[in-house]
Parts: sequence; C-alpha cells; structure tokens
Amino acid sequence: MSNEKKFEHVTIERNEKGQYAVISINRPDKLNALQIKTLKEITEALESVEVDPNIRCVVLRGIKDYSKKPAFSAGADLSDRGSADLDSENLRHQSHAMYRRHKYYDLIEEFHKPIIAAIDGYALGGGFELVLVCDISIASKRSIFGLPEVQRGIFPANGGTQRLIRNLGKMRAKRMMFFGEHFSAETMFEWGVLSFIVEDDEFEDFIHEKASWLGKSATNSLFLIKKSIDYGTQIPLNIGLQFEQMGYAINSQSKDVADGISAFLEKRRPEFEGK
Ligand code: COA
Repeated sequence: MSNEKKFEHVTIERNEKGQYAVISINRPDKLNALQIKTLKEITEALESVEVDPNIRCVVLRGIKDYSKKPAFSAGADLSDRGSADLDSENLRHQSHAMYRRHKYYDLIEEFHKPIIAAIDGYALGGGFELVLVCDISIASKRSIFGLPEVQRGIFPANGGTQRLIRNLGKMRAKRMMFFGEHFSAETMFEWGVLSFIVEDDEFEDFIHEKASWLGKSATNSLFLIKKSIDYGTQIPLNIGLQFEQMGYAINSQSKDVADGISAFLEKRRPEFEGK
C-alpha cells in the first residue's frame, strides 16, 4: 500500500494490486468522531481517486489505531462547537449548519465508484449515518451500532430520519431513534443494514478480498448498477425501468462487456479493465 499524508482528519492509501483505495478516519483519540472538516476531507480524498483509473473501489473505515477502542466512528464530535461564522441561537444558521453537513453525506453517496463501509467497532450517530451512504457494508462481529442522539436531546439529522426508514421501515427506524439503544452487528445484518458480517480475526482479509473483487470488476457495470438503484428507487417504476434500459444501452458500449462475454464463451476468466 502506498500512503499519502495530505489530510489532518483522514488518511488515504492506495492498494495498487487490488486497485482500491482505503480512506481511514484518523481521530482515534475521539473514536473517530466527525467534525465538518472530517467530512470535507473524506470527500476531498474521494475526489482524488475519482479520476484515477487504477482505483476502482474505495474502502471507508476507521483508522487501525485501537489505543482507546475500535471504532468506525462514534458520530458527530460532541466537543466541537461548530462553525465560528454561524450563530448558535439563530435557527436559520442552525439549519444551514446541517445543510453543510448534508452536502458532504450527499457527495459521498453520489460518488461514482463503489464504496465499502468497513466497520470494526463503534458506528454511532453520524458514523452510523455514514454507513448508510455507502454501497456495501462489512462489519466485524464485535461492532456496535446505534443512533444515541436522543439521549443527548438531539436527533439523527445527518440523513438518519430520512435514509434509515428506507432501509428498515418505520417501526425499526423509530425504535433505533426513539430509544438510542446499542445494537449488535448480528441484529444489523438481520435487519438488512449490513451486507456482510465476519469474525473479528477475519475482518482485514475479508475487506481486502471484497475490495479487490470490486477493484477488478467491470467498473462501468458497477457504476450503472449503483446509479440505477440509487436514483431508480426514488422515481416511479416505469421511469426507473426506462433508466435501466438506457443504462443497459450505455453499458453495452463498454469494452468490458465484450471481454466478459468472450471470456465466458472461451471458458477463461475475464480481465476487466474498467473501461
Ligand atoms: N465526540 C467527541 N468525543 C468522543 C465521542 C464523540 N461523539 N465519542 C467518544 N469520544 C471520546 C470520549 O470523550 C473519550 O475521550 P477521553 O478519553 O479524552 O475522555 C474517548 O473518545 C473514548 O470514549 P469513552 O466514552 O471514554 O469510551 P467508552 O468505551 O466508555 O464509550 C462510547 C464509548 C462510544 C459508547 C461513548 O464514547 C459514547 O457514547 N460516545 C458518544 C456517542 C454519541 O453520542 N454519538 C452521537 C453524537 S450526536
């Protein structure tokens, strides 16, 4: 892995062989709690790999420094007083503060390449909401999830009240948000929030396996699947199906389609170039 040291709150490493990048939230003293700067740096790190043809998948995770506790992210940084230019007693300014945060969550969700949320430890509040804007979620069994905001008199406003209900339905989403309980990885897997759960000691190998698989896949197909699902599910079915038909047509021009089909007929493994 090559390492780049450009950011304060995140690190970025590129696994050239696996053709994926790892963006790690790097605030272990605060269990990777998120400030607006952290979110901004995640999107800047993503931007730096967007146009890199050698990187075809991103892993978003907490830094592997467990000196306090393992954590993906323990949510919004409760010690952060927010932006100096915003008046904490002005309700429009407070709405604007959330607008700023939403923009970053949206940018992460809209990223063109697949993002794997790799969760080992706490994923709470804004950290849990970060998982919801990724494409695939992989958690170690020891991970702990929840939306504890209500216990602090606030509420999950980084997209939580809007995105979670689309995953879980009303009763489970409200249970999570009304009581602020902690939940196991097993429960989150059963409820459909997680794509995979793995034994703690298999976590790193599993992340590498899945990220490499996506890193060597037909990138255009993944891009179109991602957009069809993310946008197609927000519009009526007949328009979504039109979207799918157009996506199929666009994808048919991809070099990887030709090799994928030839490889099957020639009984060999395809070598997708992501083109
Ligand atoms: N913001 C700022 N700092 C945080 C934080 C957060 N969201 N979550 C944890 N930290 C800091 C703690 O203040 C502590 O710092 P310290 O060692 O300098 O005192 C350090 O991370 C370790 O946390 P600690 O609470 O001592 O660990 P724990 O194992 O007892 O509990 C949690 C872990 C995650 C259950 C607990 O830290 C917690 O509930 N955090 C807040 C989660 C939350 O409410 N998130 C939503 C915010 S809206």
